Amino acid sequence: MTKKVLLIEGDGIGIEIVAQAEKVLKAVNEKDNLGLEFDYGMLGGRAYDQHGHPYPEETKVKAHQSDGILFGALGGPQWDGKTERHLRPEQGLLDIRSDLGLFANFRPATAFPQLVDAAPLKPELVSGLDILIIRELTGGIYFGQPRGIRTNDQGEREGFNTDVYSESEIRRIGHVAFQAAQKRDKRVCSIDKANVLDVTVLWREIMEEVAKDYPDVELSHMYVDNAAMQLVINPKQFDVIVTGNLFGDILSDEASMVTGSIGMLPSASLNEKSAGFYEPCHGSAPDIAGQNVANPLATIMSAAMMLQYSLNAPESAQKITQAVNIVLDKGLRTRDIQSEGCTIVSCSEMGEAVVEALNTL
Ligand code: NAI
Ligand code: MG
Repeated sequence: MTKKVLLIEGDGIGIEIVAQAEKVLKAVNEKDNLGLEFDYGMLGGRAYDQHGHPYPEETKVKAHQSDGILFGALGGPQWDGKTERHLRPEQGLLDIRSDLGLFANFRPATAFPQLVDAAPLKPELVSGLDILIIRELTGGIYFGQPRGIRTNDQGEREGFNTDVYSESEIRRIGHVAFQAAQKRDKRVCSIDKANVLDVTVLWREIMEEVAKDYPDVELSHMYVDNAAMQLVINPKQFDVIVTGNLFGDILSDEASMVTGSIGMLPSASLNEKSAGFYEPCHGSAPDIAGQNVANPLATIMSAAMMLQYSLNAPESAQKITQAVNIVLDKGLRTRDIQSEGCTIVSCSEMGEAVVEALNTL
């Protein structure tokens, strides 16, 4: 059975890094006979220039028909302040997330042993680190109504947002987290601020209820301020972390940085179908765009996540991870992860090296 993969470069280094991930996907497709069919779409600033919208109708149609979407990054200074808010490149990303109902954002923070020395924390804290942050992506304070800026009775302006989660939204992300934990170390830590915020009192209660369906998984709770500290003091204590939109935004950035380079971090955003949206955590890096020096590994590993979560090809995903490890073992590094005694390679050379390593497996 064929599966449809939509490739979206976006802007800036998105073009270079998606090209490398495409090579890797095509190589594994052929090698493992996966029957993947590739199509191409646009999102972001260049999409706006060509189609008048950062999330063009044509991309929308293709996105709904695909089994998995691999995206690079979008945005750049040439579009900053040039368009109305709803036509900004960044809006394209928000639009596609809400259009596809991508409520579950997965961000693994995994330490590559070859790069542990370059991580900001002590090697013993980072070595062997393997945690998965699951962030609720379509609810909470980022979307809650009412919101806005108003003038109060004293004639002073005040800004306000509403942090709201329904039972079903909490339950839905809870199940995703427990099911992910079943495939890992069987521990879920739910992060809230239940000592202060009512919305998270309910969050905690529902997580306890969901836990009853997964007796093999251990559930713990932690307040978000403590979690921020624990991620730095002892990140390895966590297996799966599940949390709401706002806390997840902050903690997932923190957790991912614990491992080192931004060029190494993949992500997946999933909806209720298996179709998902996969992208590196970094942006379009306008400062190095077009120079063929960007690190394509976060995008290549996002492609591996797509094979695992959306395309039912976990073994092929595993092979990509293995190939990345081989390349790092050989001492090949893009500029952002360079260290003494290593060989600096370009973006395209890195992609080719991964394909070469893949073909030896
Ligand atoms: P950025 O992630 O693009 O860059 C931050 C720094 O990391 C830069 O020095 C860049 O050169 C470096 N970097 C990022 N990815 C790299 C890679 N793969 N290899 C080597 N070095 C890498 O974040 P910044 O500078 O804040 O934003 C630049 C543009 O990207 C803005 O227009 C922003 O709106 C957009 N952006 C887009 C995102 C997305 O498409 N998901 C996410 C974040 C920012
Ligand atoms: Mg963020």
